[in-house]
Amino acid sequence: MSYGADPTISEKPAPTPAKVSVPSLTLFKARGEKLAMMTAYDFTFASLLDRIGMDLLLVGDSLGMVLQGDASTMAVSVEHIAYHTKAVARGSKRALVISDMPALSYATLERALQTSQTLLAAGAQMLKLEGAGPMIEIAAQLSARDVPICGHLGLTPQSLHKLGGFKVQAREQAAADQLLADAEALQHAGVSLLVLECVPSEVANRVTRALNIPTIGIGAGPGCDGQVLVLHDALGLGTHRRPKFVKNFAESANPEQALRKYVLEVKSGAFPGVEHQY
Ligand code: KIV
Repeated sequence: MSYGADPTISEKPAPTPAKVSVPSLTLFKARGEKLAMMTAYDFTFASLLDRIGMDLLLVGDSLGMVLQGDASTMAVSVEHIAYHTKAVARGSKRALVISDMPALSYATLERALQTSQTLLAAGAQMLKLEGAGPMIEIAAQLSARDVPICGHLGLTPQSLHKLGGFKVQAREQAAADQLLADAEALQHAGVSLLVLECVPSEVANRVTRALNIPTIGIGAGPGCDGQVLVLHDALGLGTHRRPKFVKNFAESANPEQALRKYVLEVKSGAFPGVEHQY
């Protein structure tokens, strides 16, 4: 593998140096500036991603798969996320740090408040929860207590067994309509950001147009207000079958060049391409 200079990769820092805050997220959307988001689990990568202009760092429960080697995110605990959040928060100066609330750690309001307290104390600036239904009320209750919340609809890995596997969601009209209604309900509940995972591009476009808050796509096409990938996937290090939406940015680039290329391609709209969409 050659790590020679790639003329498409700028060595200059990204052009938006101001600290990314929760209120600034809607400004990105209003300006039409794409949000670049990636998972981070440790201090070294968080520092690198922060330095090269990644806007949002997600301490994802995907760590159960890429760090711990499990087949799903189901066994990740609040303590695991808190441990990695501390390391990521130490490495992040500009990017907003978002931490996943693990499966069932927000099943009741009492549990959600305990989980929030632990993760905010560890350095999270926003918490992500999956799904709609009863989660809309949990999101509303946390938002009413000034806990910034990111929603997550479409393929929600914490519902893996109910969904019957890692499958594209909302292909049927009724499911797409329900997803839009859920997205609007989450926004109404006070959610500040919404991840859309593995849904057809036109469904993500509909949701993105309907919401004032930014949408972040992963396998949801280029029409979202931003994109997220799992760090290991973007570096071509994933050991599981590579989903269609993943692009290996590390071909003929060292890790820093690869991650800079990801930021540039998200900001310019070059990623995701047609080959990464459903
Ligand atoms: O856990 C995670 O990394 C995630 C992203 C894939 C959105 O939820």
